Order: sequence, then structure tokens, then C-alpha cells
Amino acid sequence: MTDTAFNLLLPALKQAKGDSLWIADENLLQAQLSSTTGVQAMTNRLDLYQALNQQGWQSQFSDFDFSTLADQSLDRVIYRVSKEKPVVHHIINQACRILKTGGVLELAGEKGEGIKSYIDKAKTLFGGQCNADKADRNYWHARLTRPTTPGPALDDSDYTNVRDAVSDEQFSFRSKPGLFGWNKVDKGSQFLIEQLDVLLNGQQPQRCLDLGCGYGYLSLHLAHYLGIQQCDITATDNNAAAIRCCQQNFEQQHINGQVVAANCAEGISGPFDLIICNPPFHTGFNVENSLTDRFLAAAAARLSTQGSACFVVNKHIALEKKARHWFKTIDTCADNGHFKLVRLRQPLRS
Ligand SMILES: C[S@@+](CC[C@H](N)C(=O)[O-])C[C@H]1O[C@@H](n2cnc3c(N)ncnc32)[C@H](O)[C@@H]1O
Repeated sequence: MTDTAFNLLLPALKQAKGDSLWIADENLLQAQLSSTTGVQAMTNRLDLYQALNQQGWQSQFSDFDFSTLADQSLDRVIYRVSKEKPVVHHIINQACRILKTGGVLELAGEKGEGIKSYIDKAKTLFGGQCNADKADRNYWHARLTRPTTPGPALDDSDYTNVRDAVSDEQFSFRSKPGLFGWNKVDKGSQFLIEQLDVLLNGQQPQRCLDLGCGYGYLSLHLAHYLGIQQCDITATDNNAAAIRCCQQNFEQQHINGQVVAANCAEGISGPFDLIICNPPFHTGFNVENSLTDRFLAAAAARLSTQGSACFVVNKHIALEKKARHWFKTIDTCADNGHFKLVRLRQPLRS
């Protein structure tokens, strides 16, 4: 296991007694960990959920939805902090709610991720009942014991609520914390939409795929450009919060299509005439290169012979070179100094 913060929690996870919950964070995607009796896992990422199930864990895939867990019902919650503050605050609050009096929250993380501040805030909620160790210069591990009467909850930015969070000239988008960049328009995606004339060049695609859809920014604009009922759009993502938000945006804007939770479009059948994608480059706190390859492979496997896949990426990323494994025709059709649009055609099937 390479994640130092998570390693601090491993003994607690392996020796957990009674009813415990492990919040399995995305940093642990590569983890190989056999299941522990009495411990259930919860994750908001479908790939991690599938990996955990394969390793024998009893797990839940949700937008960190604790509603099925009763007040004061668990003995231990084990959590390596996530990247986004509202997620961490939400999980600490919920951990306090579901723990029995005397139950323990095990929390770990790195200094640069704000672990010290999370421990301090959690201490207020847990009434000062805390044992914290500095594992080395950068890592902390805390055990917080739930008191009979907890203190005030942490500000979780109303985590569970999907709200009108972002707007532009065309749309007001429903979104929420738990989804990376949840309250803004991604500049790369905005550039892709500005270039739809160039990308489509008069073509009218019928079946479209939005690969890694987030809250649905690309899908909504594409539907608007093509005429809401003129095309069928499948939007897919790996993140449970993204799926919730995108579904609401599809319903609100009467988009003709479907929103599907999938890992790199696994289980979604082509062919698609158009695939649009602003691929991810981060998994938790780490940059993951293989994700780009997996997105390219997923696009190639589902693109029709006459279709186009359009990827928008930071201009320094050598997407064209990588794409040669999967596509015969590759052209960089626009560049604004920060982002470039790469159009991929004629998929090479193995
Ligand atoms: C850069 S964001 C783009 C979001 C959205 N298309 C937009 O324009 O705002 C990349 C998206 O890929 C998703 N993603 C990451 N890993 C994934 C995977 N293995 N399968 C599917 N989607 C994934 C992330 O959850 C995120 O929503």
C-alpha cells in the first residue's frame, strides 16, 4: 500500500471489532486488501466499489449517503480524509451521528491536505475526546471518541443538497459538493463548446456519448446546439455525485438521453457518432496517467467508423501521441494557448 496516510489506519481496519464502517477514499484504488468481518465499506466511486466487491468487501456505492445507517449504531468509523473540504466535513458529521457513545472515529491524512485543521474541528464536535499522533513531519492519525452529547456540527456546505450552483448564458446547472469543480464551468469544456462549429463541420450526429460527464455541462450544451430532440445523448461518469447532478440536469432540460454510472464507459454499447470528453487527470491526490489511456481506449471501442471523438486537454499533454494506439486519424483542430481540442477518427480496433 503506497498511501502513507492510509497505512496509519491499516491496523484499525484489520483488527476492527464490532460493527464498523470504512470510508474507502479514491486514493486507495490500487489497494489489494482482503475484507474484515464486521466492516462495511462505503465509496462514491464505481471503480473502487467494484474492486472492493471483488476483494470480498460488503460495500455501498453512493454519494456518501449515510441515510440507511441509524443514529448511534456503529462502533468504529475509519476514514482517510478526501480531497474536498465539504466531503470531509460531511463524513465527520455523519460519523459522529452514527457512532455509539464511546464509539471511535479513526481519522488520518497529510498536513498539506489540512488534516490538522480537520482534527481540530472534529475535536470540537467530539467534545475534546481525541488522541492524536504525529506519525512523522507530515502525517497525522487521530482517534476521536464519541461523547454522549456532541458539539456543533462542521460546516459541510449543505453536502447532500443538489442545488442551482453554476450558470452561464444558456443554462443554470444543478450541482453539489462531492464532484470535482462542482461550482464552476471547466475552462477546457467551455472551449470545446465554443468550437462545436469547427468540430462538427456541419455534421448532425445522432448518437452521442459524453465520457466523464460531471454534472453534464458538455451534454447540455451539445443538446442545445444540435436541437434538444435531434440527438440521443448518453452521459456517463464514475462518481456518484456526478451521476445525481447530471440526472437532475437532464430532467430539468428535457434532454433526450440517459445518464449511466460506469467505469470508463464499461457496459455501455456503441457505436456512437460523436464522443465528447474532457478527461480526468487526477485520482484523489495523485495524477494518474493510465486514466487517459483508458478513456482513449473506451472512446475507440465505441466510436462508429464514420464518427468523431473530441477530447479537450491542457495544451502540454501529448494526447495525440497516446491516441495513435487507438485512432488512425488524429488532428488538433483548435488551440487557445491553454487548451487544445483533439479530434480522433477512424478507430483502430484490436
Ligand atoms: C475534467 S472532469 C470533466 C467533467 C465534465 N465533463 C465537465 O466538462 O465539466 C472529468 C470527469 O471524469 C470523471 N471520471 C474520473 N474517472 C472516471 C472513470 N474511471 N470513469 C468515468 N468517469 C471518470 C470524473 O468524475 C469527472 O467528472
